[in-house]
Amino acid sequence: MTIRAVVSGVGHYLPARVVANAEFEALVDTSDEWIRSRSGIERRHFAADGETTSDLATKAAAAALNDAGLSADDLDAIVLATSTPDLTFPSAATMVQAKIGMKQGFAFDVQAVCAGFVFALANANALILSGQARRVLVIGAETFSRILDFTDRATCVLFGDGAGAVILQAAEGQGNSGDRGILATDLHSDGTLQDLLYVDGGVSTTGTAGHLRMQGNQVFRHAIEKLAETAHRSLEKAGLSADDVDWIVPHQANIRIIEGTAKRMHLPMDRVVVTVQDHGNTSAASIPLALSVGKARGQIKAGDLLVTEAIGGGLSWGSVILRW
Ligand code: UT7
Repeated sequence: MTIRAVVSGVGHYLPARVVANAEFEALVDTSDEWIRSRSGIERRHFAADGETTSDLATKAAAAALNDAGLSADDLDAIVLATSTPDLTFPSAATMVQAKIGMKQGFAFDVQAVCAGFVFALANANALILSGQARRVLVIGAETFSRILDFTDRATCVLFGDGAGAVILQAAEGQGNSGDRGILATDLHSDGTLQDLLYVDGGVSTTGTAGHLRMQGNQVFRHAIEKLAETAHRSLEKAGLSADDVDWIVPHQANIRIIEGTAKRMHLPMDRVVVTVQDHGNTSAASIPLALSVGKARGQIKAGDLLVTEAIGGGLSWGSVILRW
């Protein structure tokens, strides 16, 4: 018998305010045409004043619990991926724990920027495989609108707010690649590349939250190279190949990166869940949002083989092979 971490529920939440590309034309020297053609983004959601990352996360968590037919009492742990927590501490995960009324277990945040949800899934998987938890709520939630410099056209048009969540649950498998659940994970970081994507503030430096700074075309170059590479590596670890993949569920940063990665994996775009046009780049929230939207659209079905992959600040990147 092999223990597997299987998805038993998924859900998401997007703030009510939708911001179209055209709104940025009044703020910076840009155009709807440039944003669409260079990134694939058409609109994104921004949180309301006073609406926090843990508020978005709590709504996504409630949707995932409902989808799984579970309540907060059934959970052993919360792992929340975010780079935009409500406060420096405590973790946004403990805030979600309080808001959903979960009185047992433990909760913590994971910070790997846009790769955060992949890192959170790998951590939650390890908790389940080591017997420390049987049911883990894994969330990706962000309010990137709070750290954008609305005078910098190269970054402010790209990001959005949102949250997605899955419930991972211990289940018995056969120990082969036909099992449901997480079949392989592959994580990487290279801290020498931190200047390509960072926030220019923090607790022990400026004492402020700071603003996002990015050398977009350099990150783009690394993304194209590293994402297909990690996807291939984790497929290999699972004893599978790209031919076995039903859906790539990529981090949604740029349609050209998503297309480039699919091409390198020799997979057509009709096997890729794409939400970037509607959400923009929601960092750690983008993959769980795409999982939830992909399921709601009828794209992702039980038994499908999924590859999730992401890259972000650090740089940090990785992938997870998951049979739904
Ligand atoms: O999620 C975390 C990881 N992040 C990513 O994966 C993002 C990766 N990078 C990208 O998605 C792309 O690099 C961008 C969408 C950010 C930019 O696309 P690009 O094709 O790499 O453009 P670029 O940065 O090389 O800029 C091309 C031109 C520049 O003008 P010049 O120097 O050629 O005259 C920029 O100043 O586009 C200009 N530009 C803009 N023009 C209109 C940059 N931002 C804008 C803008 N509107 N918003």
